[in-house]
Amino acid sequence: MTHSSKHILIVGGASGIGRQVTARLSNSGYALTVTARSYGSTAPGCPGIALQQFDVTNPAHMLELPEALDAVIYMPGTITLKPFHRLTREDFDREMEVNFFGAVRVLQQALPALKRTSSKCASIVLFSSVAATTGMPFHASIAAAKAAIEGLGRSLAAELAPNIRVNVVAPSLTDTPLAASLLSDEKRAEAAAKRHPLNRIGDPGEIAELVEFLVSDASRFMTGQVIGIDGGISSVRQF
Ligand SMILES: NC(=O)c1ccc[n+]([C@@H]2O[C@H](COP(=O)([O-])OP(=O)(O)OC[C@H]3O[C@@H](n4cnc5c(N)ncnc54)[C@H](OP(=O)(O)O)[C@@H]3O)[C@@H](O)[C@H]2O)c1
Repeated sequence: MTHSSKHILIVGGASGIGRQVTARLSNSGYALTVTARSYGSTAPGCPGIALQQFDVTNPAHMLELPEALDAVIYMPGTITLKPFHRLTREDFDREMEVNFFGAVRVLQQALPALKRTSSKCASIVLFSSVAATTGMPFHASIAAAKAAIEGLGRSLAAELAPNIRVNVVAPSLTDTPLAASLLSDEKRAEAAAKRHPLNRIGDPGEIAELVEFLVSDASRFMTGQVIGIDGGISSVRQF
């Protein structure tokens, strides 16, 4: 099935989960605008998709958007794991800038194009983390930034209905460059897997499958949801 009449903006589509999302949606025939912080000729693994340079923290960078958009996927994320007493104001600022204020900036720029969609309903997909609602030590700054994203997502879902749906994906630990330091040796990776009831960490390809569902008509009755994709760690206890 081809979706070439639908145009999707992927912010942060060259790495980790975003890279898998780009490959998957390109394969399904969507027209894509994909951004990354640095220019590369094309999105890795996706010949023919030019990357637009966009650093969400750089006020000089503006998005070049098509006239109409059917979906926006906001991927950028950071993670600073430190005991609370060592977290600085700068640490909090950086987490908020990339994870939250970047999303605000992108959505405010993209909203006019989303409102011109020819689809019945456009779709916005944001990224949170299991840490926003499950208390985890050393996660204070990222948990706060992702909790802000969840609040933004629900609020916008109300404000933009019925023409634009807004949903938030909340993964647990997933094998990407962002998580590399947490999976740096076999022991750490094994311990991380064991913390999850499904006994493994996430794969970026399976998160991309969920994102494709959320931008497609198959999820047309879903909005305002925070969807955990986390091996059960947020909700399951094993005795
Ligand atoms: N991996 C996990 O364990 C995990 C767990 C929970 C939630 N998440 C969330 O999932 C999302 C995707 O993360 P990932 O794991 O796929 O990480 P990743 O592979 O490291 O990708 C992070 C993305 O953020 C982009 N980015 C970082 N700073 C940026 C900035 N200033 N301006 C624009 N883009 C910026 C990167 O762009 P460049 O390619 O240009 O560097 C990259 O596309 C994030 O929101 C993350 O918080 C991930």
